[in-house]
Amino acid sequence: MTDRYAVVGNPIAHSKSPLIHALFAAQTGQDMVYEAILAPLDGFAETVERFVADGGRGMNITVPFKEEAFRLATRRSKRAEAAGAANTLAFAGDEIFADNSDGAGLVRDLTCNLGFPIQARRVLLLGAGGAARGAITPLLEENPRALVISNRTADKAQRLAAEFSRTAEIIAGGGFADLAGQRFDLVINATSAGLTDTPLDLPQGLFAPGSLAYDMVYGRQTAFLRQAALDGAAHLADGLGMLLEQAAESFLLWRGVRPETAPLFRELRLP
Ligand code: ATR
Repeated sequence: MTDRYAVVGNPIAHSKSPLIHALFAAQTGQDMVYEAILAPLDGFAETVERFVADGGRGMNITVPFKEEAFRLATRRSKRAEAAGAANTLAFAGDEIFADNSDGAGLVRDLTCNLGFPIQARRVLLLGAGGAARGAITPLLEENPRALVISNRTADKAQRLAAEFSRTAEIIAGGGFADLAGQRFDLVINATSAGLTDTPLDLPQGLFAPGSLAYDMVYGRQTAFLRQAALDGAAHLADGLGMLLEQAAESFLLWRGVRPETAPLFRELRLP
């Protein structure tokens, strides 16, 4: 029987995950199908239950269900624990295993696809929501010189940095105004402002020579990337590579084989 997988979210119509996983399955010769499921905002657990009862093997989880997916699990990976959220579930018998491949996908895109090593670099992470939280541990594991978390609401960034400061002295958190006079090699936008094309109220002069500006939003030049280009960022990247790499990590967990992401970049860049 063909194995079933799905991505669950609300909204879900524009998800690229079914296309990505279909291409991965064709590339690696895996017998599987992958669909998109719209879950009602108050009906995520029931949606998972029904999918498992119908023989579903695994799920990707997107906005706004990542925290709920984490809570629903019976077992969790270390990186899901660190993020407090899950983007991947795997079902086996009564077990629901939760993983989070978002941060690993980001780091893999930065280091492998973009050739931008994080070690010894000064890194700025913008935002203090779920997307930022998931990136912290994978970024720290690369041994940056500093990791500064900055958020419109400063105390949220301070609390987030404090949570991780037991394991890393190099982490700090604050508001956008506190960034004045500081320079970074890598600036990652993990706020949701990119979705609405709202510019961030950032001080000028943030970008060191040779620096990279990275927006987790994919598919277009966001207000943040336009701002970054004007402020002197040497390189700009959107989140397509992160999307592909987190998908590849999920696929590896489910199927035991890592698909190649390189052939998909061209395919997904097409309008
Ligand atoms: P996600 O799961 O995508 O991280 P979230 O948990 O709702 O979503 O977090 C959204 C993040 O984007 C927050 O850091 C939020 O800043 P606040 O904590 O100050 O609300 C940030 N954000 C959203 N819109 C923004 C804007 N227009 N300017 C600056 N930051 C914004």
